Amino acid sequence: MMDKRLRLAKQLLKLDGVLICAIDENEVNRLGLLLEEIFNTHEIHCVTIVHNPRGIQGKNFSYTHEYAFFCIPRGKKTIGRRRIKEEDIDWRNLRDNGGVSLRTDARNCFYPVIVKDEQIIGFGDVVPSNKHPQKQTMKKGEEFYVYPIDPKGIERKWRYARQSVEDIKTLLRVKKTKNGYEIEIGKDFGTVRTVWQDSRYDSNENGTKLVHALVPSSHFDFPKSVYNTYDCISPILNKKRDAVVLDFFAGSGTTGHAVSILNKEDGGNRRFILCTNNDNGIAREVCYPRIKAVIKGHKEYPEITKVPSNLKYYRTSFVPAEPSDENKEILTRKSVEMLCLRENTFEFVTETDTWKIYKNKNQYTAILFDQLSIPDLREELAKLDKPISVYIFSLEDDNFASEFIDMKGKVKVCSIPEAILRVYRRIYK
Ligand SMILES: C[S@@+](CC[C@H](N)C(=O)[O-])C[C@H]1O[C@@H](n2cnc3c(N)ncnc32)[C@H](O)[C@@H]1O
Repeated sequence: MMDKRLRLAKQLLKLDGVLICAIDENEVNRLGLLLEEIFNTHEIHCVTIVHNPRGIQGKNFSYTHEYAFFCIPRGKKTIGRRRIKEEDIDWRNLRDNGGVSLRTDARNCFYPVIVKDEQIIGFGDVVPSNKHPQKQTMKKGEEFYVYPIDPKGIERKWRYARQSVEDIKTLLRVKKTKNGYEIEIGKDFGTVRTVWQDSRYDSNENGTKLVHALVPSSHFDFPKSVYNTYDCISPILNKKRDAVVLDFFAGSGTTGHAVSILNKEDGGNRRFILCTNNDNGIAREVCYPRIKAVIKGHKEYPEITKVPSNLKYYRTSFVPAEPSDENKEILTRKSVEMLCLRENTFEFVTETDTWKIYKNKNQYTAILFDQLSIPDLREELAKLDKPISVYIFSLEDDNFASEFIDMKGKVKVCSIPEAILRVYRRIYK
């Protein structure tokens, strides 16, 4: 079962995309081998997440963790930074110590940091080599000039040169001392680590209880902590504000919730596609209402809900393959929905027996079912004032781009996805 789905997932993944797969100890080894075989063009990394600190009692061990595999394009920097909580920041003096830390080792690293009201308000010029401040902290009116001079009075250097220190100003803080001030640096980001242990990953607190609050009638015992999923996707999607995230075992929709939080934080337009079966009503009674609640907002969770978004619910089913008018009708109707989803154009514009046109605020999508109607469709498209993606159903492998060559720049002829075309041609035989 995993094999087929992973092969399909690889086909759907963009070239710079990442597959993340969460798994517990029961199948971790089998999954690891499968991923190595299927994602042989990728690097595979596995992180350990302590998601159940109380543990699940086994005969020999109490299991407190699960795993997440990350399949990322080989050799590329794909995983961004990890955010470090305020209380976990490792503060150190901005003044260098140890070898190569003297003023004479880097001329541009000896300048005053200017402090007023216990805040850094700026940086002075590099001090000429023949000038020597009398003290580490010098008072000038309301301001204090702090130099990298150590407690023994030795002139050392800051860790950052004058020309680059402004870039890291937000990482600095002022610490009051007996004789003045020290300047400290603390990074609130770091490289993502391979063991994640934090109360935010507790699947009971931030999974089961959260889902229950958002959908009080829900019965689903195994949602992940939304922060578990958030921390998996956020280092990858931080800068990708238009990403599309697919979860094809979506359960209670935690992935959709995590993507929504990212969008809320930075105003991004990331989209998510959640697919799940409807076991015990998980799709209709948990996943869908949960995402609706995330959009609407919940007073106990103001920081991670109320994320204005569009939401569409689709039910998948098989299209009968016998060539009949009724089946043709079903297939084309469902295909239109899929193509509109692909193009993100849901507003109906106009239709005839042979075409349909939809739009969003930026573009149109035209879907043509009979290539003989290309001339009529061209007339209709000439009236439209935004870019148009045109899809043409055809029994042959024709390329219709030449039919619209004079409308280049406005009309883009797109290929109908192979999966739809295959069924279409079969039904029309
Ligand atoms: C382990 S749960 C995922 C939980 C999810 N991460 C969450 O936080 O809610 C896996 C889900 O996949 C669904 N599922 C099982 N077989 C499926 C299938 N063949 N196609 C789609 N979904 C399926 C199940 O209903 C179950 O809810």
